[in-house]
Amino acid sequence: MKNYTSISELYNLEETIQKAIQLKKNPLQNSELGKHKTLVMLFFNASLRTRLSTEKAARNLGMHVSILNVNEAWQLEFEDGTKMNTNTSEHIKEAARIISLYADIIAVRAFPSLKNKQLDESEQVLNSFMKYATVPILNMESATGHPLQALADALTITEHKLTKKPKVVLSWAPHSKALPQSVANSFVEMMQFMEADFSITHPKGYELNPKLTKQTEIIYNQEQALENADFVYVKNWSTYDPYGQILSQDETWMMTKAKLGNAKFMHCLPVRRNVVATDEVLDHENSLIIEQANNRTFAAQAVLEDILQDLKSS
Ligand code: CP
Repeated sequence: MKNYTSISELYNLEETIQKAIQLKKNPLQNSELGKHKTLVMLFFNASLRTRLSTEKAARNLGMHVSILNVNEAWQLEFEDGTKMNTNTSEHIKEAARIISLYADIIAVRAFPSLKNKQLDESEQVLNSFMKYATVPILNMESATGHPLQALADALTITEHKLTKKPKVVLSWAPHSKALPQSVANSFVEMMQFMEADFSITHPKGYELNPKLTKQTEIIYNQEQALENADFVYVKNWSTYDPYGQILSQDETWMMTKAKLGNAKFMHCLPVRRNVVATDEVLDHENSLIIEQANNRTFAAQAVLEDILQDLKSS
């Protein structure tokens, strides 16, 4: 794999999931593969899981890891041809090439503005690194996608499913902040690669990018959508059209044990307790949230392995 910026760059999803399952049994089995290689992780936004799991994955492969909170460094300019006489101190053209001197792989986390849809959809930060860096790029959550999270989620469903084609529902939840659509987008994309009876439920107005959901059934009645579900993935996102808005904080969309029934509960975390889902749901034995977070390490490790193998053979 040359880069991992979206799910479509995986060579083979099933093989990647099986590799992650094997790595989980023996995380140090390829601890020489990344020897003398460095992963530089760039954070434009906060992280707990992605930061620690990706670092752990890289160390399991014998890599060195350098982490930069970019907002504590020089403020980067991404526009081409601009006169840099205001706030930005360094252009991405130099920064990406220079970071490439110190890194064998660059991992980037850069959230959307949720103010300018066109700019967010252009994936300016991620694509600028793709354009100017000279080493592979790993997406640690960008403006429109979170493919490492989606791979961990696919791994979690694979481990816990009891039928070949489980019923999986993505259910919108209320939240007091306008959140990105990235996790939901990548989960929807991932479900299109997996064998699953998949649907989305949300209040009217919370439709995701129709280019992503065109193959997916949308059910506006949450109770009807959740009927006989095997897995319920709960997540808030802000509106796509109009962009980045909170239209509703309707508490009746919060996940409760009564609504969940016997389904397994999933969420990418962090989660606001008793807003997105009740304590009872989060603390129940059917909650997979800790397992999902654990699987972030092995999903990242499987991806890093593929990139390192390609670097070795190039
Ligand atoms: N789920 C996830 O990406 O968590 P962090 O934001 O803590 O990395």
